[in-house]
Amino acid sequence: MAKVLSIVGARPQFIKAAVVSKELRKVHKEVLVHTGQHYDYNMSEMFFHELSIPKPNYNLGISGGSHAEMTARMMVAIEKVVLQEKPDWILLYGDTNSTLAAALVAAKLHVPICHVEAGVRFHVMTNPEEINRVCVDHISTKLLACTESSMDELTREGLSDRARLVGDPMYDAFCQYSEIASIKNGELLDLSGNKVLVPKKFYYLTCHREENTNREGALYEILKAMNSLDSPTIYPVHPRNRMRALEIREQFGFNNVIMTEPVGYLESIYLVNEAKKVVTDSGGLQREAFFAKKKCVTVLDFVVWPETMVGNRNQLAKPCCDEILERLNSEQILEADYLPFGDGKSALKIVKELS
Ligand code: UD1
Ligand code: UDP
Repeated sequence: MAKVLSIVGARPQFIKAAVVSKELRKVHKEVLVHTGQHYDYNMSEMFFHELSIPKPNYNLGISGGSHAEMTARMMVAIEKVVLQEKPDWILLYGDTNSTLAAALVAAKLHVPICHVEAGVRFHVMTNPEEINRVCVDHISTKLLACTESSMDELTREGLSDRARLVGDPMYDAFCQYSEIASIKNGELLDLSGNKVLVPKKFYYLTCHREENTNREGALYEILKAMNSLDSPTIYPVHPRNRMRALEIREQFGFNNVIMTEPVGYLESIYLVNEAKKVVTDSGGLQREAFFAKKKCVTVLDFVVWPETMVGNRNQLAKPCCDEILERLNSEQILEADYLPFGDGKSALKIVKELS
């Protein structure tokens, strides 16, 4: 039995940890650390509650500030935990500042690192997450990739001897939770705290990447496009965008877009499965749209998951109203037996790698 220190901090990491922790705890001792990067109830605790993720052994309470401040403060706090717990492995997910901070600490203390979702590359070194994932992959001991294209990226960087293809824990989660996914009473909370009914037909929008939130006019163009569609759009607003979204609402109305508080995972999966189409800049939501066979438009300049881009199933658009609408109108072509994200049992494979 190994002692595994899992370190998470952001919404998508809670979802991945939910499926992996369940398997991990059958064979190993897990100590769970939450850095605190995401901290609002509906960005953090709600996921632990809905997905029955064990309460973290440590919550470091570190969030906000510049990338350097956040990462540095996390490193100091994580180092103390690692020295105290003396784990056999550090288990990390994805590409957030929490992932980078933990990897730097583990590498310096010579604790083996297992990196889940290794080998994802945008090939854009100004993207903050690209910096994180390239650094983390190069100092990790085991690189667990979701897809063949991630394996190819790792091979190109000379890392193939440490890499294994295990599939995508987000696909595990989607398979496990889709059936029970629902929205209580069909209602969500809008940004004023009022209940709003989820319409029968709707589009699903999320937006949180630095590339769109920091780009003047990007959110306006996205909302303008969604507002012009034939059905309303459900848009759970990431806290990073809240102020800007409210300003746009105030100035332009865009009442065909229903802005809500961030939703839980089960609600989000329900929205993906029931939506007409999905528009997003989220890495997770692009994949979920693909799993749910929903047409997706990704508002980014770069490909995140090449597997999803076949048959117009997921298309890139600049944050420009006309381009988004043009992409949304092109029909997708589905291939029945194309399943590039594994068999829904990646958590088992991840746990085996820690033996
Ligand atoms: C982070 C990750 C990104 C991931 C995303 C998932 C980095 C560099 N980026 O981006 O890879 O896709 O999480 O959602 O780590 N905030 C709140 N309440 C919260 C959380 C955030 O108000 O619960 C606000 C804070 O003002 C914060 C800002 O949102 O400064 C951005 O949060 P941060 O964690 O820095 O980055 P994300 O955009 O969430
Ligand atoms: N998600 C959620 N509530 C929301 C928006 C998204 O639970 O209000 C889920 C979504 O279904 C996916 C994950 O969060 O499972 C994606 O996280 P996010 O977009 O924050 O980060 P990324 O995947 O881009 O790193």
